[in-house]
Amino acid sequence: MSERVIALVDQRHPSLPLPALPSGQDLSALPLDGLRRPLTDLRISVTDRCNFRCSYCMPKEVFDKDYAYLPHSQLLSFEEITRIAGVFVGQGVRKIRLTGGEPLLRKNIEILIEQLAALRTPDGQPLDLTLTTNGSLLARKAQSLKNAGLQRVTVSLDGLDDTVFRRMNDVDFPVADVLEGIAAAQAAGLGPIKVNMVVKRGTNEHEILPMARHFRGTGIVLRFIEYMDVGATNGWCMDEVLPSADVIRRLQTELPLVQLDPSAPGETAERWGYANAKGQHDPALGEVGVISSVTQAFCGDCNRARLSTEGRLYLCLFASQGYDLRQLLRDPAQTDTQLAATVHAIWRGRTDQYSRLRSLHGPDTASGPGRRVEMSYIGG
Ligand code: GTP
Ligand code: 5AD
Ligand code: SF4
Ligand code: SF4
Repeated sequence: MSERVIALVDQRHPSLPLPALPSGQDLSALPLDGLRRPLTDLRISVTDRCNFRCSYCMPKEVFDKDYAYLPHSQLLSFEEITRIAGVFVGQGVRKIRLTGGEPLLRKNIEILIEQLAALRTPDGQPLDLTLTTNGSLLARKAQSLKNAGLQRVTVSLDGLDDTVFRRMNDVDFPVADVLEGIAAAQAAGLGPIKVNMVVKRGTNEHEILPMARHFRGTGIVLRFIEYMDVGATNGWCMDEVLPSADVIRRLQTELPLVQLDPSAPGETAERWGYANAKGQHDPALGEVGVISSVTQAFCGDCNRARLSTEGRLYLCLFASQGYDLRQLLRDPAQTDTQLAATVHAIWRGRTDQYSRLRSLHGPDTASGPGRRVEMSYIGG
């Protein structure tokens, strides 16, 4: 039985050959990729499972009871994750985001957080350690996550209307429980909290203004995300994308906004601050963000690497293949220096810029060969 599962997984995602390491490779300088982008952000998927079935991510028809999730032996252990994360930190990573699937479904996730929170950058700084969650278990877990050393959380929430929300998560999960999770995260000091809303035209676009009204002035940053053609199962079509420019226009009809400067290089979101009567940003009212990966690709300074649940390194959200780092982590002869040399060489060889190429030439030319991995497998 387990053989069948492994074969299926391998067939879906053949791994890329690891680069040959030049002897005497200079690891003293941090790597830049082929488009001169640094490596500063690592997203680690800790489970490929989720208790929601959002149709844009894990549609029920595909992720049904027969779906071959990874068996436990295939997952990286907490020790393996911490070791490889430490190697990435040595190569420039400053921010680690735990994702899934739903990361809070991974048993004893607090132990992993404790281990990651103890990592330090080469100049002795703690990492920006965060997690993306659907919020369903947050009310129960916020305090223990904070105690373990998590700094902040980002919660996915696609609307405030209970009927709309239950339909979008497709497991009839009530919105009140997610709001309770957000409140618990706020009380535990897991901030600044961000709320991510994927906007689908015709499905939840009428929730844009109610969501903005609800979170304005709470210190929580609401971000509107364009529905993306990620993965191979969500049946994406452009008609269902509501461009961020439209989102901003709709917000402006009632809630005046002024554009803000980016807070970090390579940031996914464009920031807009709520304005006061004089048309200036009022920090007490806070800000919103728009993430426009379809209409305004932000590949130019993409500094993100993704580690899948089973330890494969993906260089783009839209990649179809990754590098099998687990094989190295489970080889007793591999030293941390050798692991670092491999990560360094892989990053230097990176030229991925899927969203940019898709907007220039269309989806067919932009995609490499093979079926794209699912977002639930490599994490958002
Ligand atoms: P902060 O550090 O809190 O700003 O987080 P972030 O925006 O880097 O990460 P988050 O996981 O909150 O990203 C929000 C959404 O942006 C994701 O769910 C994706 O939909 C999208 N996104 C994030 N990274 C990428 C990326 O590298 N490429 C593309 N195309 N979309 C991305
Ligand atoms: N388009 C945009 N964002 C997506 N996410 C998952 N699938 C998609 C998609 N097709 C993101 C959402 C969600 C996070 C877990 O992943 O932001 O909040
Ligand atoms: Fe689960 Fe998040 Fe995917 Fe929805 S978007 S199915 S909550 S991982
Ligand atoms: Fe980065 Fe790929 Fe997203 Fe572009 S499409 S921003 S290269 S992950």
